[in-house]
Amino acid sequence: MAHLLITGGAGFIGSHTALVLLQGGHSLVVLDNFSNSSPEALRRVAELAGLDHDSARLQVIAGDIRSPADLDRALGAAAPGGERVAGVIHFAGLKAVGESVQQPLRYWDVNVNGSRLLVEAMQRHGCRTLVFSSTSTVYGEPQRFPISETCATDPRHPYAQTKLAVEWMLQALETSETGWCIGRLRYFNPVGAHPSGRIGENPLGVPNNLFPFITQVASGQRPLLRIFGDDWPTPDGTGIRDYLHVMDLAEAHGLALDWLMQHQRSLPVLNLGTGRGLSVLEVVQAFETATGRTIPRELVGRRHGDVARLEGCPRLAASTLGWRASRNLEQMCRDGWTWQNANPRGYGG
Ligand code: NAD
Ligand code: UFG
Repeated sequence: MAHLLITGGAGFIGSHTALVLLQGGHSLVVLDNFSNSSPEALRRVAELAGLDHDSARLQVIAGDIRSPADLDRALGAAAPGGERVAGVIHFAGLKAVGESVQQPLRYWDVNVNGSRLLVEAMQRHGCRTLVFSSTSTVYGEPQRFPISETCATDPRHPYAQTKLAVEWMLQALETSETGWCIGRLRYFNPVGAHPSGRIGENPLGVPNNLFPFITQVASGQRPLLRIFGDDWPTPDGTGIRDYLHVMDLAEAHGLALDWLMQHQRSLPVLNLGTGRGLSVLEVVQAFETATGRTIPRELVGRRHGDVARLEGCPRLAASTLGWRASRNLEQMCRDGWTWQNANPRGYGG
């Protein structure tokens, strides 16, 4: 069991990963500035993990990855048994594609500068094991599917560019200095929630993404889903993505960390997806079947910056980590709906 730092651990993927790691016996420090999350998420993570109210197995630090002092505080926070932080999972960052086009400097500051300051702080504290959240959008608009990790990258917006820049920075770091054990994980589209309905995705304001939009339409918070284009070069004309259950993604982080600690070297860049793409219409239909709710919808034009299809080859993650997404679309829909239904106003409710 290890003592780990999770940056952005109150967010959507971070909170589910924190739960998986606590249930696996690890102790955690979470550093989050709560710019896109709520401390309530971590209170519920502790509750689901069966921790006492003020258990030292989950220490929460409200702070920013761009602050060396906050990073020193987080990396210096020892475990209940006195162990030092042995590894970091780095989720903290900004992730909205459209916003990144409007505010590129903010994205370079938080995603790139923040990551640089984090690894510098790790150097100060002698911690060299890191898992980094990257994205399938670094592939741009590939022509061959499923996308393997050897596919050329073509990041087309500041969000993807900042993520790829960090991948490169980490590669240069491990070349320049021995001892680094780094995992760069390119996620496809995580959706759903923990089956308890206690933690889930908590978008602030109008959701950008398909899944939380569907669940908010299902609960009556929004009148209808707008489908962005039915003229894509796909079988039904709507965009195809590789959706995976957030609990599968959370489990992949536990395995990546175990692998790094056991092998004491870096992982190859890994795609985390299912290998099976689904169109917007297929997702809407599956959601209606799984939940019995009707999703009113209208067709509108394409969303700027979208691509037709993203579908990741999961083979390398399977052969390296022994990981495969095991939960199906019905579970993604059911669990996402359970969360939305029980928490119509997210953690604010
Ligand atoms: P999220 O917004 O729910 O979580 C990110 C967390 O980081 C939030 O809790 C936020 O408050 C925190 N944070 C942001 N800026 C910070 C800062 N400067 N200092 C400290 N904390 C800060 O997002 P998520 O969906 O959980 O994504 C986690 C990571 O995975 C992100 O880096 C994102 O780019 C990446 N990713 C997400 C997706 C996706 O579809 N959700 C896909 C690919 C990659
Ligand atoms: N879509 C709609 N209506 C909506 C929202 C989305 O039709 O209201 C469509 C999109 O056009 C696309 C599909 O649903 O075809 C999925 O869109 P999302 O916004 O849910 O997901 P994206 O693939 O655009 O991007 C997401 C995250 C990124 C992340 C990426 C990884 O926003 O941060 O997945 O693949 F990097």
